[in-house]
Amino acid sequence: MGEKPGPVAPEPMTEPIPHILFVCLGNICRSPMAEGLARRRFADAGIAAAFDSAGIGDWHAGAPPDRRAVNACWKALVDLSAQRARQIEPADFERFDHIVAMDAENVAELVAMAPPGHAAKISRILDFAALEEADVPDPYYGGHEGFDEVLGLIDAGLAGLMRHVGGG
Ligand code: 4NP
Repeated sequence: MGEKPGPVAPEPMTEPIPHILFVCLGNICRSPMAEGLARRRFADAGIAAAFDSAGIGDWHAGAPPDRRAVNACWKALVDLSAQRARQIEPADFERFDHIVAMDAENVAELVAMAPPGHAAKISRILDFAALEEADVPDPYYGGHEGFDEVLGLIDAGLAGLMRHVGGG
């Protein structure tokens, strides 16, 4: 008599991790900072997620982040030096679960380009924080201090985003 077949092991379940895309205008200041800081904050909190960032415009495609952004993040032990700017593309709306913009203008542009059924995944990062500010201001034409301020705002938004995504 043949051996009775043993129980079939169930396929290992792979938990899908949330894919999060940060978006600003040029993808050289705010959204690279958000991407870099999010990697650190989520890892420190033990929340698995995948991150990327993109710009509404293509002016800086292929460029590294602004050195003021790199410097502000470096002080927080976050290294942005490997990041390169890219423009958002329609496929991003399929690839990402959360598309997190920096200001109302970014949100309006994203809503206008979102394929049908994908607008609900668009948010503004400070929607996740309880601050008076609703927008992370564009620091490009300002000085160094603006980048430290931007990093603080992004950090507040990320704390709320972690609770939202991590379910905590
Ligand atoms: P970001 O800042 O949107 O935070 O990357 C900007 C960078 C470049 C330009 C505008 C905003 N620009 O006009 O070139």
